[in-house]
Amino acid sequence: LRLFSGSANVPLAQEVARYLGMDLGPMIRKRFADGELYIQIQESIRGCDVYLLQPTCNPVNDHFMELAIMIDACRRASARQITAVLPYYGYARADRKTAGRESITAKLVANLITESGASRVLAMDLHSAQIQGYFDIPFDHVYGSPVIIDYLASKQLTDIVVVSPDVGGVARARAFAKKLDDAPLAIIDKRRQAHNVAEVLNVIGDVAGKTAVLVDDMIDTGGTISEGARLLRQEGARQVYACATHAVFSPPAVERLSSGLFEEVIVTNTIPIPQEARFQQLTVLCVA
Ligand code: R5P
Repeated sequence: LRLFSGSANVPLAQEVARYLGMDLGPMIRKRFADGELYIQIQESIRGCDVYLLQPTCNPVNDHFMELAIMIDACRRASARQITAVLPYYGYARADRKTAGRESITAKLVANLITESGASRVLAMDLHSAQIQGYFDIPFDHVYGSPVIIDYLASKQLTDIVVVSPDVGGVARARAFAKKLDDAPLAIIDKRRQAHNVAEVLNVIGDVAGKTAVLVDDMIDTGGTISEGARLLRQEGARQVYACATHAVFSPPAVERLSSGLFEEVIVTNTIPIPQEARFQQLTVLCVA
C-alpha cells in the first residue's frame, strides 16, 4: 500500500500517514513557466495499491487537474489499484440541472476521474449522496459526523435541537440528531435568489430556549449558516452552534462566522484553514 499527497492538503495526508504508521510516497510536482503541471512518482509502484489524497478545494480547477495527472501517472506506472481520496469533492453542488443549458459538473468530474484511471474513489460528506451513482467504479462515502458528534457529546450540552439550514439537508440533520440521543429536529426554509446569496424565510420546529446545533455539509461564504443563526436567535434559541465537515470559507465567511452569532463553529480539516482565517469561536477537528 502506498499513500501519496497532492498539494491541496498535505497536513491531512501527513496525519493519515501517521495514523497508518507509514511515510507519504515521494513525488515530484513542478509547474512550468506557462502554468502546466508536471508530476512524477519517485518510486516503483508496480503492482501496488495506491491511495492519492487530494481534496479538490479552491483553487478547484488546479487541484482537480493535479489529481487527474497523479492518477494518470500511477496508471502508467502499472499500479494494481488506484484509489482517489477526495476529502472534499469540488463541484458537488453542480449535481443536477436547475436551469436550461447548464452543465452537471459533478458528473463531468466523475467521468474525468474515471477516465484518468482511478479504480476506486473515497469521498467525505458529498453534498448529495447520489453523486456516488455518477461512478461505475467502487465508491466509498464516509462521514465527518462521528468526530463532530463525539466532540459535541463531550461538551454535555442540554436541551439540544438539531437544525437543518435548508430542506436539502434534512436527511443529514436527522441522522445527526439520532446520534445525539435522538435530539429533536428543526428545519429552516431557505430560498436562494442568486448563486452564493442565501435568504432565510422561516423556521419549522421549536427552538425557543434551546441550544440550536446547525448542521451542514459545508460552509462556503457563511451566508446560509449565519442567516440561519440570526433567525434562530430571533426565534429565541439560547445558543447557536454551527457544525460542518467542509470549511470552504470563501470571503466573507470569516467575518460572518466571527460576528458573535455563534457560540462555536465546529468544522473538520478536510480543507486546510490558513492561520489568518482562524477565529476565536472556531474549532477544527481532525478526520484522520
Ligand atoms: C447548500 O445546499 C450547501 O449545503 C450549503 O448550505 C451551502 O453551499 C453553503 O454555502 P454558503 O456558506 O455560501 O451559504
